[in-house]
Amino acid sequence: MSRLGDRLFAAGCARLVASESEAMRGWRRWLAHRARGVIVELGAGTGANLPFYQADALERLVLVEPSPAMRRRLAAPAAALGAEVVDGTAERLPLADASADCVLATLVLCSVPDPEAALAEARRVLRPGGRLLLLEHVRASDPRTARRQDLVEPVWRRLAQGCHPNRDTARAVRDAGFRIVEEHPVPVELPDLGLFPHVALVAERP
Ligand SMILES: C[S@@+](CC[C@H](N)C(=O)[O-])C[C@H]1O[C@@H](n2cnc3c(N)ncnc32)[C@H](O)[C@@H]1O
Repeated sequence: MSRLGDRLFAAGCARLVASESEAMRGWRRWLAHRARGVIVELGAGTGANLPFYQADALERLVLVEPSPAMRRRLAAPAAALGAEVVDGTAERLPLADASADCVLATLVLCSVPDPEAALAEARRVLRPGGRLLLLEHVRASDPRTARRQDLVEPVWRRLAQGCHPNRDTARAVRDAGFRIVEEHPVPVELPDLGLFPHVALVAERP
């Protein structure tokens, strides 16, 4: 992506986060409150989840983010929380095997080029019993909505920096060998597009 494209995408993400619904913020809080110990956040973006972590639960917080423009926006809020900002991708995490208690990602597995590799990496860095905490928009279970997602996918992907609206992320999590211990549908309505289903889930590394 060009530097200008990267900066525009980061600015757009920051605006979306600023105008996010109370319901979405509630789900970010719900997820971040379950994070403790050594935490790795994938694709931390502009830092939308940072206000919701519980400082006394953090032993170490590593924010992995490949976009330079996002990392610039992350720097100040991360420093205030004592978190590390790392240039990296979900598919190749700069952490040792079984070194993390939690891996958290929100609205990221829709965009990573190789979600299977990202989930395998999350599994590698998590200790046994460690938790994967996700809030993602996903493929609809209703076939008509899923068909609509398939139809808009090629255009959507180009406009939204590689985001796929139709990935079955819960299934990918199971296929990666995690055990889902909590899964909550998060219904989101988008103007003109209608239902845009999200899911909040907690999965355990065996
Ligand atoms: C829609 S934004 C979400 C940002 C943030 N997690 C949030 O909830 O607001 C998607 C993020 O995923 C990041 N991303 C894209 N590809 C990635 C990859 N392979 N590994 C990690 N992060 C990636 C982008 O740079 C961007 O920050």
